Amino acid sequence: MSLIQAHGLTFAYPSVRVLKDVAITVEANESHVVIGPNGAGKTTLFKVLSGEIFPQAGSIRYDGEDVTRLDAWQRVHRGIGRTFQVARLFGEQTVLNNVVLALECRERINGSSAGRWWRLTPARALQEEAMERLASYGLDRRAGDAAATLSHGDKKRLELLLTLALHPKLIMLDEPTAGMAPEDRRAVVALINRLREEEGLTLLLTEHDMEVVFGLATRLTVLNYGEIIASGDPEEVRRDARVQEIYFGKGGGHA
Ligand SMILES: Nc1ncnc2c1ncn2[C@@H]1O[C@H](COP(=O)(O)OP(=O)(O)OP(=O)(O)O)[C@@H](O)[C@H]1O
Ligand SMILES: [Mg+2]
Repeated sequence: MSLIQAHGLTFAYPSVRVLKDVAITVEANESHVVIGPNGAGKTTLFKVLSGEIFPQAGSIRYDGEDVTRLDAWQRVHRGIGRTFQVARLFGEQTVLNNVVLALECRERINGSSAGRWWRLTPARALQEEAMERLASYGLDRRAGDAAATLSHGDKKRLELLLTLALHPKLIMLDEPTAGMAPEDRRAVVALINRLREEEGLTLLLTEHDMEVVFGLATRLTVLNYGEIIASGDPEEVRRDARVQEIYFGKGGGHA
C-alpha cells in the first residue's frame, strides 16, 4: 500500500490557479523528487500535503487514512514531517534549545499517544540527546549560539535535524540544498540516501539542482503550471519528450 495517495488536488489563490487536478502517490521507502520551474506549484503541493492549507477539491490518504481535512499538527502526530523552503527555526533561541524543544515535542506526541504524558523524559537526558544529535551533524560547536547566527547551510541542516527529532515516517523537504555550496550539497545527498537506506525513511522532496536530483531520486515527478506532466523512473522521465522540451530544453533547463 502506498504511504500517500492523493487524487484530484486543486488549489487556487484568488488570482491564480496553482494546482490543477494533481494526483501523486508516494511509496514507502522511496525518495520521490518533484521538480518543475519556478512557480509550478511545488511548495503549494507540499503545503496541501502537510495540512498547512486545504485543497478546494481532491483527497489525500496517508497510511490508509483519509487526512484531507486534518490539521498540520495532526499530520505531524501521524508521522509526517516537513522542512521549509526558508528554514523555520526559533532564531533567538540557542541551537541546543531548538533541538531540546523538538525533543520535548516528540515526548509529548509519544507520551500522549501512549497515555503516559506524566512520564516525560527528564530535561537532562533530553539535553544529552540533543547534544549527541548536534554532534552527528557537526553542529555541536554551535550549540550555545543563537540559531539566527548560523550560516544558511547550517540553518537548513538544523531544520532537518529538528524534523528528524520528531521521528517521522515521511519527511517532505522543500529544496533542502537551496543556496548551498557544492560540497554541502553532496553531504545532504549522502545524508538523505542514508536516511532512506539505513533508517527506512520515506522522502518527498523538491529540488532544482539536477546533480542532487539524480543523486538521490528513486522516483521523479514533473510539475508544470500546476499539472503533473510525467512521473516514474528518473531516467525514463529525463528522456520523456515533453519533459525534455519544457525542462531540459534549449536554454539549459533549470540546474
Ligand atoms: N500566498 C500566495 N498568494 C497568492 N499567490 C501565491 C501565494 N503563494 C504562492 N502563490 C503563487 O502560486 C504559484 C505557485 O507557487 P509555489 O510557491 O507553489 O511554486 P514553486 O513551484 O514552489 O516555485 P519555486 O520553485 O520558485 O519555489 C505561483 O504563481 C505563486 O506566485
Ligand atoms: Mg517552492
